[in-house]
Amino acid sequence: MNDTISEQRDAIRKTIRASRRALTNEAQQNASEKLLSTLITHPKILKAKRVSVTLAYDGEIDLTCFIEWCWQQNKQVYLPVVHPDEPGQLIFVEYTLNTEMDINRYGIKEPKLIIENSCFANTCPVTELDIVFTPLVAFDQQGNRIGMGGGYYDRLLSPWFEKQTGPYPIGLAHDCQYLDALPIQNWDVPLPEIITPTHHFCF
Ligand SMILES: Nc1ncnc2c1ncn2[C@@H]1O[C@H](COP(=O)(O)OP(=O)(O)OP(=O)(O)O)[C@@H](O)[C@H]1O
Ligand SMILES: [Mg+2]
Repeated sequence: MNDTISEQRDAIRKTIRASRRALTNEAQQNASEKLLSTLITHPKILKAKRVSVTLAYDGEIDLTCFIEWCWQQNKQVYLPVVHPDEPGQLIFVEYTLNTEMDINRYGIKEPKLIIENSCFANTCPVTELDIVFTPLVAFDQQGNRIGMGGGYYDRLLSPWFEKQTGPYPIGLAHDCQYLDALPIQNWDVPLPEIITPTHHFCF
């Protein structure tokens, strides 16, 4: 009862990450297929030309089928990479079948950053993305989210939250990542939409 908000958030991260990792391969595959059927009929997604996604890690829902669908639809797909020079910021690198991949410090695959003429090649300024599919560890009935604890998505989405500028965020999660109410901090950006295999929440 005397836990600080930060301790409560860490405890939630630990519990939900464990339940996500406990999903069987079959449950994971089922979840991805069900999620796909909602994503490919969503008007904002159908209209989007540039989207950012993440590759599944730590039991997250696998977006491989959705990424392939985006490629078939000629949408440009981007993956986030932690900015090597600007602490706390993400860079979005185009992801295609030919993208050379690295393994980052968390053991997650990410596109290799290529520098050409002093600029990062194949990147998209955040403001030119149409949709940011936002990863999360836990979400609640008001669209609040807790992520992995880096604050990357809170920083990225704060212009959208403050001024409705920049890409539109859509959270993607397994159903087991839902809790009725999360302990939130004043910098947390709530999401306007979260899609799970069985629910489409609009807040
Ligand atoms: N807009 C912001 N500007 C500067 N720092 C921020 C901002 N938003 C969050 N932070 C910092 O990021 C740290 C982690 O925040 P938090 O615990 O909410 O991460 P998270 O939401 O779980 O992570 P993520 O957004 O990467 O999924 C906090 O110390 C917070 O001060
Ligand atoms: Mg946060």
